Amino acid sequence: MIDFHCHILPDLDDGPQTIDESVEMSAALCKSGFTGVYCTPHLIKSVYEANNDLVLDSLAALQTRLNNENINLQLFPGREYYLDEFLAGYLENPLPLGDTNFIMMEIPIHISAELIKDACFQIKRRGFIPMIAHPERCSIFSTSRKKEKSRFKFTDSQRNPPNSKQYESSRLIEYLKDIGCAFQGNLGSFLGLYGSQAQKTANDLKKMEVYTHFGTDLHSRAGIKCLK
Ligand SMILES: [Fe+2]
Repeated sequence: MIDFHCHILPDLDDGPQTIDESVEMSAALCKSGFTGVYCTPHLIKSVYEANNDLVLDSLAALQTRLNNENINLQLFPGREYYLDEFLAGYLENPLPLGDTNFIMMEIPIHISAELIKDACFQIKRRGFIPMIAHPERCSIFSTSRKKEKSRFKFTDSQRNPPNSKQYESSRLIEYLKDIGCAFQGNLGSFLGLYGSQAQKTANDLKKMEVYTHFGTDLHSRAGIKCLK
């Protein structure tokens, strides 16, 4: 079993602060049946900016510790790129997932379908394959409808036509599938760790056979509990 999305490297983003915590997380992953983990620290301008060399050095140091402590877990490099105006610059020297051509990309909560399509195009034209991280957590892919408060009186169907959200979401997903994107689901989403909306979307996307990869998106030793 491979974990395709994990913040396990120390002191690079909002993951563990120390290598000891990274080792603890690795041992828990190993115990849960994982044999390989893609280390995917955030890359977000002005927030988490560790460069690729730092990621590779940190991975090598952690792998050495795991080998020395007989923790049988293979680490692979990667990044979780953020879709914003700085993405194109980072794609000049990208770090894909291990030996694959996948570039993992996180989509902001509020963003248009056109910007997502444009980012995927930019990744593809450089010869890589976009992998959308946890689409179930992005409102644009959400398959559940949220009632909004308004001072005007609308009927339910005027406010939110039946299935309009599902239709919009599935049209975008079909487009992204057609151009060859991969979709990575968070295991915790199915357990409701990110709320009922993400849970419903995760189950719907699974039924629609959208997911190509899964990951823990683990950030800390506290998150280990859900692995059980
Ligand atoms: Fe993540």
